[in-house]
Amino acid sequence: MRFKKPLNILLQEASETGEGTLKRTLSSFNLVTMGIGAIIGAGLFSLTGLAAANNAGPAVTIAFVIGAIGCAFAGLCYAEFASMIPIAGSAYTYSYATMGEFVAWIIGWDLVLEYALGAATVSISWSQYLVKLLHYFNLHIPPQFTMSPWESATLADGTVVSGYCNLPAVFIIVCLSLLLIRGSKESAFVNNLLVVLKVAVVLIFIAVGWQFIKPENHTPYIPENTGEFGHFGISGIFRGAAVVFFAFIGFDAVSTAAQEAKDPKRGMPIGIIGSLLVCTVLYVLFSHVMTGLANYTEFKDSAAPVAIAIAKTPYAWLQEGIIVAILAGYTSVILVMLMGQSRIFYTMSKDGLLPKVFSDVHKKFKTPYKANLFFAVFVSLFAAFVPVSVVGEMVSIGTLFAFVLVCIGVMVMRKSDPNTPRPFRAPWVPFVPIAGIIICLSMMVSLPADTWIRLAVWMALGFIIYFAYSKHHSLIRNGKVAVPKDPEPPMA
Ligand code: ALA
Repeated sequence: MRFKKPLNILLQEASETGEGTLKRTLSSFNLVTMGIGAIIGAGLFSLTGLAAANNAGPAVTIAFVIGAIGCAFAGLCYAEFASMIPIAGSAYTYSYATMGEFVAWIIGWDLVLEYALGAATVSISWSQYLVKLLHYFNLHIPPQFTMSPWESATLADGTVVSGYCNLPAVFIIVCLSLLLIRGSKESAFVNNLLVVLKVAVVLIFIAVGWQFIKPENHTPYIPENTGEFGHFGISGIFRGAAVVFFAFIGFDAVSTAAQEAKDPKRGMPIGIIGSLLVCTVLYVLFSHVMTGLANYTEFKDSAAPVAIAIAKTPYAWLQEGIIVAILAGYTSVILVMLMGQSRIFYTMSKDGLLPKVFSDVHKKFKTPYKANLFFAVFVSLFAAFVPVSVVGEMVSIGTLFAFVLVCIGVMVMRKSDPNTPRPFRAPWVPFVPIAGIIICLSMMVSLPADTWIRLAVWMALGFIIYFAYSKHHSLIRNGKVAVPKDPEPPMA
């Protein structure tokens, strides 16, 4: 038997927590800017260089297009789900109402890879750019404290030092977790400002860099495969797509605002597809310029490729300003991811699938502070001790897996609940979800075997927790209704 969370309970929870009073104020334009705000971050400013250096060369531009197509198909499915269950929430909530508790658990557990490890990835990249910025002011953090133990750096005198831990990454995670506990409200104004800043940096980089592209850096555009799968050639483009896929994560944030969209039927697809489209165009131009300014091999092992590329132009003085804007942009992405993570665990805990500690709300600040503290430690451990490429790939595989489940979910629901009203219907079902599944799976397949093993270990751990704990404590499964007494934690 499948245990589903009844829609009326979801709606009741939403109204009791104040979410029911959300106003339909967001226009399609607001939704597009919201998407861009959540999307542009470390994927573009950091992983582009790594994907070019290790996988695709200048053809990282094609990798971006493949990633975007996969996201667009999954995004349409997301939009249908979000409009069907018009509650501010995540894929976890949709699946609990539609596909049952076990699938919901799988998605909720898998989303830790997207949100918690996503925050870790961006924080590592934040740290790299901070180090660069401090260099300009002649301030130096010993390199041992800016990288994981798996990495090493060559000092000016030629000695090679290994990392201990990435302290700046831990610093930003802890600071933002504390900020979230305080529950500070990120105003729409600040959000819009950050979006303008981020987009401005991208446009300035493209405009300034374009004239200094060296055609020899783009030759050959698709470097020959080295004989190893995923290292250049066509397979390299696919693996590159799976790596830079990270750069598109965040468009699902648009679907969480389904309840606040003025006209969700129109706004959801425009918000999701519109922000994806704008970002894809920017990403392709940006990566074309980046690999044109410096040879792709120069980005190897660097998480701050923008600095390398811009140094090739006579406008090197732009670096400081660009890096400050990048740091600000990253900060908002980390904040949203940490908040999303604590909210998902808060909801899972409210449903009884996780211990109550994750839904304990601070008396004064009204935030799930214990969940925030837990993830401050959990995310910090990854940020401190794991290289950016490893966490980045785990985020990609975890999110791709969630997208595959959402695409399957849409087809299942069309069969099992054909009459439930869908303000937005994904077009050409089953073509769109099947195409989404195929593209997302092919990106997953092209990720290294290690990443698959890590995904399998993570999911196995999830199954153990589900069968040892969650199944026995689930409120729905045990006939108890999960009516929240504590107020919903405020959005940061
Ligand atoms: N898409 C977000 C980024 O690239 C997660 O930082």
